[in-house]
Amino acid sequence: MAGGAAGNGRVVLGTGRLLLRPWRVGEGAVQREMWMERDPRVPPHRRIDSAGHPTVAELEETIRAVEPSSVGLLAVERKVAGDAIGCCGLVGSGRGVREPQLAFEFLRRSWGQGYATEASWAVLDWARSSGHEQLWASVWDWNTASGRVLAKVGFTEVDREETTYGTNLVATRPL
Ligand SMILES: CC(C)(COP(=O)(O)OP(=O)(O)OC[C@H]1O[C@@H](n2cnc3c(N)ncnc32)[C@H](O)[C@@H]1OP(=O)(O)O)[C@@H](O)C(=O)NCCC(=O)NCCS
Repeated sequence: MAGGAAGNGRVVLGTGRLLLRPWRVGEGAVQREMWMERDPRVPPHRRIDSAGHPTVAELEETIRAVEPSSVGLLAVERKVAGDAIGCCGLVGSGRGVREPQLAFEFLRRSWGQGYATEASWAVLDWARSSGHEQLWASVWDWNTASGRVLAKVGFTEVDREETTYGTNLVATRPL
């Protein structure tokens, strides 16, 4: 697996089939498609609201405003097709500790082809080589596919958290 900083502080990772790189401003429509496809059990603030927000333009503005960061959700592009099909990366710190969380989301038409697992391995490799010693992840208890991806890349469930929106399974993995 190849990967690392692109030289301008932005992280670009490569796998056999995928390129993980920063989102491009013109890809707001891809992000909005992911928002539209979200399961109705996902909390409302992470779904398109009744007025249609966030719009493509709003999502593009967010992409534009994001500073280059070593920790963040990278767009996942298929090398052969050249299309962005989802995202994978590290978000915030988990459970009050300094180590971040692994996160991923893919367009439905790309599910079941091993892309989330392949992208996650690249992020894990990068996190390890960046000095992180442990990662966290949290997943709704109904989200079997996401839990399966976490298990495939070595996460173990260590806790359950009750929230307003349901039960979150908390998993962790040493690096
Ligand atoms: C979770 C998600 C990223 C998985 O993406 P993907 O590219 O399809 O994942 P992979 O193909 O690498 O692996 C999926 C695994 O889940 C399994 N799976 C999928 N749906 C399942 C279901 N309903 N029940 C049981 N297993 C399921 C697949 O069989 C596969 O496991 P296997 O390789 O042992 O057969 C994708 O479903 C998604 O984007 N979901 C919505 C967003 C989301 O839930 N993000 C995670 C938030 S924590």
